[in-house]
Amino acid sequence: MTAAPINVSAALASFDEPYSPRIVARMNDYEVRVAHTKGEHVWHVHEDTDEFFLVLDGQFDVAIRDANGSQTTVTLRQGDMFVVPKGTEHKPSSPGASILMFEPSGTSTTGDRHEGPIPAHVDSTTGHELDQHGRRPGESPPGYLPASCTRSSATHSALPQVRPEPRRDRPHRQAGRKRASQAQYASSSAMPPGPGTETTGRIPPPGNASHSRGLSVAGSSGTLPMTYCPPFLKL
Ligand code: NI
Repeated sequence: MTAAPINVSAALASFDEPYSPRIVARMNDYEVRVAHTKGEHVWHVHEDTDEFFLVLDGQFDVAIRDANGSQTTVTLRQGDMFVVPKGTEHKPSSPGASILMFEPSGTSTTGDRHEGPIPAHVDSTTGHELDQHGRRPGESPPGYLPASCTRSSATHSALPQVRPEPRRDRPHRQAGRKRASQAQYASSSAMPPGPGTETTGRIPPPGNASHSRGLSVAGSSGTLPMTYCPPFLKL
């Protein structure tokens, strides 16, 4: 089990093929799948299960045909959902869309039976596994969780590694503040060194070039963590 969320947009961005659904979630004996759609599918029927569609983007049409051969086409746009009842012959088509489906595990995209040859652009499958987080290895979709904030060492190692600048020759931020504070005291003859000097033991002794330099740049630099992750994103 993974404790990480699945981002549907990232999942869709991880592949391009139309009518080739990716499994994004499982619950009980059902699956949530997402797919791109474009062009004509094939007439087919799922004898034992209803099939749920939700259009995430674009337009998706479902032609349905009853036992008498009477045909109707249902046009679905973003936000529309539709259920094809089990045993109903149907043929999806689309000028271009992204859809989410909900159906029992093992359900074939071309049904228990279909009419005529399966077009080359239609993948007859029971769904494909999704890459981790919906990404191709090493990819990080815009706006998605920073890869270095994830716990997966595999994912982390696949991404560019950023090394922190060495602390040598760079002032310690906290020390810099203390030294600046001391400088203020030193410049004011009316104010003798106060309690603040009690912490000077934490500052390396004079003569350390890096900390002497820190006086002039106090607060302007300092060593940042290798990667900044907002606390609420840390897993
Ligand atoms: Ni179907």
